[in-house]
Amino acid sequence: MVNASPIRCLITAGPTREYLDPVRFLSNPSTGKMGFALARAAVERGWTVDLVTGPVDLPEPDDVVLYPVTTAEEMFHQVDALFDVADILMMTAAVSDFRPTVRHPEKVKKEEAATSVEFTRTRDILATMTERKTSQLVVGFAAETSDLEKHARQKMTDKRLDFIAANDVSKAGSGFAGDENTILLLGADGSRLEIGPETKDAVAFMLVRQFAEELAARREQDVQA
Ligand code: CTP
Repeated sequence: MVNASPIRCLITAGPTREYLDPVRFLSNPSTGKMGFALARAAVERGWTVDLVTGPVDLPEPDDVVLYPVTTAEEMFHQVDALFDVADILMMTAAVSDFRPTVRHPEKVKKEEAATSVEFTRTRDILATMTERKTSQLVVGFAAETSDLEKHARQKMTDKRLDFIAANDVSKAGSGFAGDENTILLLGADGSRLEIGPETKDAVAFMLVRQFAEELAARREQDVQA
């Protein structure tokens, strides 16, 4: 019998913040718009959506379960807790790759502050999930400023992803903050699809349709196996 249970989808969105002290942090300009658009598109498809988001200024989409987090470590723990029951992970979050090695509990006074800060690498959430994945479809997102396809392919291989959605953030109509996006979707099976420039909602709709087809094909294969 075909598995007719609704697709359960885990999406991450937005930036993370890595604190030096209570009032200073390292972050990036991600707005979360692409991840939230994907969450709305997935709900429209009838999927069950868990949305793990860093600090963003966006309205909460209807019918999703929202998990607000702040740091990369918090995002890791939330994704870790939800990954095993997911059918698909879409990791749009711009996770900080570094955090200050020391997080001071009190505001550092400038007279006492060092002029350089030591950083420690954060955990790679995607790579950690794909290490233990079972049947999940895992999709990474790559924001690049040069050699888009080459860098994206490398990330797909290194992190053992099924798909990577790459965009050139240095180009107009493809950046962090705008309402439009242009995506190059690469599949581990060699597929290559250019999407946009389109609104982030339209791009999200097309991406979700693409992943829905892949998930349906996988369920069909499971039936035949
Ligand atoms: N990612 C992650 N955990 C991290 C860093 C990134 O899961 N600590 C995920 C992102 O959510 C994205 C993908 O990895 O889906 C690619 O992120 P990106 O920042 O483009 O790549 P990095 O691996 O951080 O490589 P670099 O910064 O060197 O380009």
